[in-house]
Amino acid sequence: MRDTVHHPLFARFYARVSVAMDARGGLGAHREELLAGISGRVIEVGAGNGLNFAHYPRTVSEVVAIEPERRLRHLAARAALRAEVPVDVVPGVAEALPVKSEAFDAAVVSLVLCTVRDLPRALRELRRVLRPGGELRFFEHGLAEGRALATVQRSLDRTVWPLLFGGCHTARDPLAVIEAAGFEIVTHRRLRVPERGPQLPSSPCVLGVARRPGPEDGPEHRAD
Ligand SMILES: C[S@@+](CC[C@H](N)C(=O)[O-])C[C@H]1O[C@@H](n2cnc3c(N)ncnc32)[C@H](O)[C@@H]1O
Repeated sequence: MRDTVHHPLFARFYARVSVAMDARGGLGAHREELLAGISGRVIEVGAGNGLNFAHYPRTVSEVVAIEPERRLRHLAARAALRAEVPVDVVPGVAEALPVKSEAFDAAVVSLVLCTVRDLPRALRELRRVLRPGGELRFFEHGLAEGRALATVQRSLDRTVWPLLFGGCHTARDPLAVIEAAGFEIVTHRRLRVPERGPQLPSSPCVLGVARRPGPEDGPEHRAD
C-alpha cells in the first residue's frame, strides 16, 4: 500500500517514551480530559500504542482505532485487550480512512496532525466519517504563539525534526486546519507539555472539541 507509514526506529522510541510521559509528564491526565464525556461510536486516528484506550468512559459503545505503523499497531492491539470498552485496531491512514461515511458519533486525534502527510485531506476524511453534529476531540502540539519559538519550530521542520521524529512537524497550526476543514471549534485550551522545565519545540499544545456542523446550522455548512 503506497500510503503505509514505516518508521520502525521512531516506533520503538515512541513506545518507550510515551509510557514514561504518560506517567511522569502529565500526559495521562490530558488524555483523561480529552476523552471525558465522549460517547457512542468513536474512531481514533493514529492510535499509536493505544495509550488513550484506558481513558475511554463506558458511555462509548465501540472504538475503531486506526494505526498505520506495524509495531505500534501490534502494541495497540494488546492495549485494546485491557480496555474497558470494545476497541478494534485496524490498519489504515488518516488520508483514506477505511470506514463508511457518517458512521461515527465522535473522532479522536492526539499528537497525530503533526505527522500526517496530507493534512487537509486527513481533515476532510475526519469530517466525512463523522455524522453531522459529531465531535472531533483533539489534543495536538503545534505552532508557538511567541515569535522566537515559532521561528525555531519552522527551521526545525525544514531540517532535522521530521527525520528524527517519524515525520512530525512542530509548526503546524491544528486549530486553523480544523477550522479550514469546516469544523466549528466548540471549546479549546492551550497548554504546555511538559508543564514545567525547559520549553521544547513540541511543548505548545492545544486540547479541545470541534464539531461537524449539522443541518440545523444552515446550508452554508453542508458537507462537501
Ligand atoms: C506521536 S504518535 C501519537 C500516537 C497516539 N495518538 C498517542 O496519543 O500517543 C503519532 C502517530 O501517528 C501515526 N501516523 C503517522 N502518519 C499517519 C497517517 N498518515 N495516518 C494515521 N496515523 C498516522 C503514527 O504511526 C503514530 O502512531
